[in-house]
Amino acid sequence: MRIIGTGVALPQLRVTNDMIAKYVDTSDEWVASRTGIKERRIISTESLIDLGAQAAKDAVAAAGIDMADVDLLICSNVANSYVTPSLGCIIQGKIDATCPCFDINNACAGFLTALDMADGYITSGRYKNILIICAEEPSRIVDWTSREACILFGDAASAAVVTDGEGLKKIKLSTKSLPDVLYYRRKLEYNPFVTKDQGEYKPLQMNGREVFKMAVSASVADIKKVVEDTGWKMEDVDMFVLHQANLRIIDSIRQHLDLPEEKVPHNVERSGNTSSACIPILLNELIAEGKIKKGYKIVFSAFGAGFSSAAATYEWK
Ligand code: UT7
Repeated sequence: MRIIGTGVALPQLRVTNDMIAKYVDTSDEWVASRTGIKERRIISTESLIDLGAQAAKDAVAAAGIDMADVDLLICSNVANSYVTPSLGCIIQGKIDATCPCFDINNACAGFLTALDMADGYITSGRYKNILIICAEEPSRIVDWTSREACILFGDAASAAVVTDGEGLKKIKLSTKSLPDVLYYRRKLEYNPFVTKDQGEYKPLQMNGREVFKMAVSASVADIKKVVEDTGWKMEDVDMFVLHQANLRIIDSIRQHLDLPEEKVPHNVERSGNTSSACIPILLNELIAEGKIKKGYKIVFSAFGAGFSSAAATYEWK
């Protein structure tokens, strides 16, 4: 399986740390030093559906195929205003695709989860061209009256087209059920037959320190495992494309694996954590800047709510 095109659509509005400090008790100094984030894009006037559609169209154009050639659409999303139908089904109508569509939700590991599924479909011969869309609007699930989580996230859509051929080497997904460390709970409709507690709404709740520790240990273990299973040595790898949660997490993973700074690119300072959209956004930037060369050995690693993590080895063709 190989990646043949990527696309990105970002909201117009740039929100700096100083802008957030007008609403919650924080500062640019605190956010920049603890997370590396200086600004993020937040959806103000756009719709997530339109951003997802734009990223998808750009990825298909970059892949040099027609929308009619897309055999399957997998959309990775944590939350949007529709519970049903799936976001992928709604975006399908905006891009004139006719293939089957569905959503997956594996939080920040969503892109690599979709890549793993796509590899299974392609390897089995079931589908040839698969469009993966990662459309995320975390700004609408965080609590903007509390400083803990709203400073971390940004909104974005990104997409990738994958097809048969050489590229992906190994991919590994892991989950350890720890729903309390990072979660968002919606309120369901009142049901007169329910005699237990009807359940309450909770905006995104996070035990930041726990998530930090789990993110670093999961990513380090996943990366070591996929690199070893591929038969590579860590020093053979040209680039590590990591989930952009936080610069301190990225630095800590880099230090644990003793990697040089230039092999671990990041853009979290400009985008914040855009959940599953992070990896295709960074990949799209690296491709546009000519920083990924033919034959490059790449490692992907992502982690997030679940607690779920994923890593993959990939040789760029
Ligand atoms: O995809 C995964 C998504 N989640 C993450 O990536 C989060 C991972 N965790 C982290 O990156 C860090 O734990 C945070 C950036 C969230 C927090 O950094 P920390 O160094 O772990 O800080 P802390 O939670 O231990 O809090 C230290 C202090 C506390 O004040 P006191 O008790 O020392 O007086 C907090 O109340 O910092 C305070 N604090 C803030 N201050 C200013 C917490 N959030 C903020 C804030 N602005 N936004």
